[in-house]
Amino acid sequence: MFGTDIQAEVKIAVDEIRKQWRATPEIAVVLGTGLGAFVDGLNIEAVIPYSRLPGFCTSTAIGHAGELVCGRVGETPVLVLRGRTHCYEGVSLDRVTFPVRVLEQLGVSTLLVSCAAGGLSPAFQAGNFMVIEDHVDFLLHLNSATSGRSRSFTSTPYDEELNELICNIGREQNIPLNAGTYVSVTGPNYETRAEMRFYRRIADAIGMSTAPEVALASQLGMRVCGLATITNLCNPDALAIADGEDVAKVASQTEPNFRRLVLELIRQIS
Ligand code: HPA
Repeated sequence: MFGTDIQAEVKIAVDEIRKQWRATPEIAVVLGTGLGAFVDGLNIEAVIPYSRLPGFCTSTAIGHAGELVCGRVGETPVLVLRGRTHCYEGVSLDRVTFPVRVLEQLGVSTLLVSCAAGGLSPAFQAGNFMVIEDHVDFLLHLNSATSGRSRSFTSTPYDEELNELICNIGREQNIPLNAGTYVSVTGPNYETRAEMRFYRRIADAIGMSTAPEVALASQLGMRVCGLATITNLCNPDALAIADGEDVAKVASQTEPNFRRLVLELIRQIS
């Protein structure tokens, strides 16, 4: 059961945000590693550090600022989570997914989730994007009584209509987009050769986030679109060094295209 303590915490965070920003946002964006500059494409009306929001955890990961940015795309109010917390940071899944509960209570019905990911598919190149069609969740949900799947999905948690829209935008704007399956792993270590071979059999891209937030958002009735930035290749036959700094650097290089895709998607759905 979803605890009353968390419900009370959600309410406190919602009240705090409403005090600082009066709009009712229907769309929110979760920014993955290195994509923080996206907020420069908004008309920013308020910036609230996670440290000022009860229940939010300040991220210790590279490329995650840890602030809620409230603004507009044209007239449309949009909330942006500039940075997220990961399970490998030692926090429970309830904390990782807490912001999603807050977004839902603020009125958000469409969630655009982004992340950096390693490319498992041999067809991918670093700097490409992958629209997430579905995911495999290999994060251990043992430390949570509330955030896992409490009922089965009736379809993929990712919205097919939003996926089609973003793929069309990619085509129109000449931004190459692949589509595929994302696997969430605990990390923070990167994969061994044997693990790459294993994950290649079940997914096209791999990362350390996304699935828990998406699963919860979908269970709460939100439409979800997931976009992974391929920051490095996981090729078991040509091992290459990957670390957090490189991942954040490549992701930040893709940000201008990410911004074009997501701003246009927001314009089309608002
Ligand atoms: N593995 C896991 N997570 C990641 C990777 C990777 O290669 N790249 C970015 N996030």
